[in-house]
Amino acid sequence: MKPEQVQQARQGQHDTDELAAVQRILQLHADEPGALLPILHDVQDALGYIPADAVPVIAEAQNLSRAEVHGVVTYYHHFRSQPAGRHVIQICRAEACQSMGADALLAHAELRLGCSAHGTTKDGAFTLEPAFCLGLCASSPAMTLDEQPYARMTAKGFDALVAQTEGGRA
Ligand code: FES
Repeated sequence: MKPEQVQQARQGQHDTDELAAVQRILQLHADEPGALLPILHDVQDALGYIPADAVPVIAEAQNLSRAEVHGVVTYYHHFRSQPAGRHVIQICRAEACQSMGADALLAHAELRLGCSAHGTTKDGAFTLEPAFCLGLCASSPAMTLDEQPYARMTAKGFDALVAQTEGGRA
């Protein structure tokens, strides 16, 4: 087998494993009408994202159109259509954090990481996501790194966190 064929075979196995996980999740919700959101949450928890191949499978099981399922996946910021990087950074963009400079912090993060919000760094180390209230409004601007909260974040503090994580290889 040529290297590209090996890679394709690996990818095919990976896709099959993912769809098998989706099927198991669908079975768990088989008796729940209108379970689209819980199913999508379970798929993302299991796989880290909602694979494009899973959309028609979920749609059929829930008696919905692909467009309806795709619409829900893209409507909610929580759901990812692509796998996340090894570390996920969320920067709050809700009102209290905005009033304390969250937009400037996000702009700094985009510059520092070299990717835009909803994007992932080229080396796959960091995914940058906007969030809408992390429950730290009194200590804004707030962010999380791999679900660990950080309050009163500054550009300098952000750079330090990134540098500590994976040696700041972004
Ligand atoms: S508004 Fe940012 S944590 Fe609540």
